[in-house]
Amino acid sequence: MEILGLDIGGSGIKGALVDTDTGNLLTERHRINTPEGAEPEDVAQTVNQICQFFEYIGPVGVGFPAIVQHGIVLSTANISKNWMGLNINALLSQRTGNPIFSVNDADAAGIAEMTFGVGQEYQKGVVILLTIGTGIGSAIFSDGVLVPNTEFGHLKIRGKDAEHRASDAMRQSEDLSWKKWGRRFDEFLLELEKLFSPDLFVLGGGISKKFEKFSKYFSVQTRTIPAYLLNQAGIVGAALFASNQTKN
Ligand code: BGC
Repeated sequence: MEILGLDIGGSGIKGALVDTDTGNLLTERHRINTPEGAEPEDVAQTVNQICQFFEYIGPVGVGFPAIVQHGIVLSTANISKNWMGLNINALLSQRTGNPIFSVNDADAAGIAEMTFGVGQEYQKGVVILLTIGTGIGSAIFSDGVLVPNTEFGHLKIRGKDAEHRASDAMRQSEDLSWKKWGRRFDEFLLELEKLFSPDLFVLGGGISKKFEKFSKYFSVQTRTIPAYLLNQAGIVGAALFASNQTKN
């Protein structure tokens, strides 16, 4: 199936047509800056612009940086507080005229990695995927099945949300060396290892391209690897999510 996948992020809203059978992008990614403040109505207009750019009619998968439980936004860590309690699927469907299927952004990336990326060999066992950017997103799979909205980035490490110590935004704003940041991230991984005894950690987000620079400071025993799909994972996973929802 050909489905439009969108990834709503703090700085950009990106979309592309996805072949959900292969996980390939069928078009270049089209990106529009996230409107200042990322208010619901402004984001909805931008999503509509992207649908129009592709002259797209059909189901749309949307990865969103918050808890999305059956279409309702239930957290606002890095987005406007006005999203709280909103039915994002209803809002975006009204503005675009297309059926919208929204999913947490890290869950979307996880779905893509498990289907077309590094997770393919781990259909048995427990896989934890973490996306590292402005915040830290998480997705956990047991025997290939996702438990959605886990929000491990908000686990407390030394009294602070993990993402307030070990996100990429923190690394940059505190100008942390790879060693310092790597050790902080390791503390977070050790906590997750203790709680879940996973078979695999997959690290995504732009920083995963620098994996060699920081992974040497990890002490965690669990196999830890960079994501394979990198930037595309959010878009591909959102499209897959929509495709699966339309089949149900
Ligand atoms: C949000 C998550 C999101 C992650 C990555 C966190 O602050 O709470 O829902 O997945 O950022 O965007």
